[in-house]
Amino acid sequence: MTRVGVVGLGMMGLTHLNVYRSLPNATIAAICDADPDRLSGKVHALGNVEGQAQASVASLPAEVRRCTDINDVIGADDIDLVDICLPTHLHLRFGTQVLNAGQHLMMEKPLARTAADAQALADAAADAKGLSFVGHCMRFWPGWDWLKEALGESRYGKTYSATFRRVVNHPGGPFYENGDLCGGAALDLHIHDTDFVQFLFGMPKAVTSFGYSKITDQPDHIISRYEYDDVPLVVAEGSWAMTDGFSFNMSYTINCENATLVFDLSKEQPLTVIEKGKEPTHPELDPKMGYDFEIAYFLDCIEKGKKPETVTMLDGANTVRIVEAEIESVQTGKRVEL
Ligand SMILES: NC(=O)c1ccc[n+]([C@@H]2O[C@H](COP(=O)([O-])OP(=O)(O)OC[C@H]3O[C@@H](n4cnc5c(N)ncnc54)[C@H](O)[C@@H]3O)[C@@H](O)[C@H]2O)c1
Repeated sequence: MTRVGVVGLGMMGLTHLNVYRSLPNATIAAICDADPDRLSGKVHALGNVEGQAQASVASLPAEVRRCTDINDVIGADDIDLVDICLPTHLHLRFGTQVLNAGQHLMMEKPLARTAADAQALADAAADAKGLSFVGHCMRFWPGWDWLKEALGESRYGKTYSATFRRVVNHPGGPFYENGDLCGGAALDLHIHDTDFVQFLFGMPKAVTSFGYSKITDQPDHIISRYEYDDVPLVVAEGSWAMTDGFSFNMSYTINCENATLVFDLSKEQPLTVIEKGKEPTHPELDPKMGYDFEIAYFLDCIEKGKKPETVTMLDGANTVRIVEAEIESVQTGKRVEL
């Protein structure tokens, strides 16, 4: 049984809390938020995907410790795993402290605010006693894990193009309005697709990106082309600059030699496989979210004493590196090599 402390009870902390409570091999030992209203559940964060932020803090058993000070969680004897769902600029500082305390670390994406910080955290994790994980949930998302497997075994022949889209209105709040803290939509939201591109195709040779700022001083809407020798066209669009009322859109279209593969979260059957001369099919998808599978996977790694492989801390650092190159490309108008 892994004893967990969840730190930061916003959109993501509440989502993670719900997952731990659903799993038989985890128990919540403590929750922590510097804001007493978030800690008591008086103020409840909202998600933008159905199923996010569902946990009710108030319904936790009385023996769960409630802390406003993170130092009551880091290094505590009754906690094996510290799950950090704090604003991004705090990831390096508190992630390093968890590793130094010898506890396991679950860190929400982005691994850190800058590529240098993310690499420092990955380096610290390499030497730490505890295991580490970065929450790149798309690698575990039903329909996206399917895509990884399908392309990995060249099920539909050569891949010609891969386009990804993740577009929504702005979530609001002081953290997400401050580009220095959150990194704009490029680092906060679009990073999901950057990471998935890396998962599918490895590090790109170079990126060329276009975008603009609307809410923060960082790119709030970005379109990037990732260069690979063997896949002619890889593109991702990410934005939180849409007008309130615009629904969250998360999709991909992959064009292979023998099929076109489409995922659209807004559809009742999100995954469609279109093959020449056949009726389109909709492979069955597990209704759970990537968060359920990533946390179950990491708990399993902890039980087995095995370093995670589906996503490593180095992957997390490299993803931030790619996003930084994309932001540089937006800002300079130039192609940026990696
Ligand atoms: N994987 C995903 O799909 C996904 C989705 C949303 C957010 N995130 C990431 O999760 C992280 C948190 O985002 P969020 O939307 O939950 O943010 P949020 O602002 O809703 O919540 C953060 C919480 O941390 C608390 N906090 C801040 N400083 C603290 C401190 N020193 N000690 C204790 N508590 C403190 C705040 O009071 C707040 O309740 C970010 O890095 C974000 O990029 C990931």
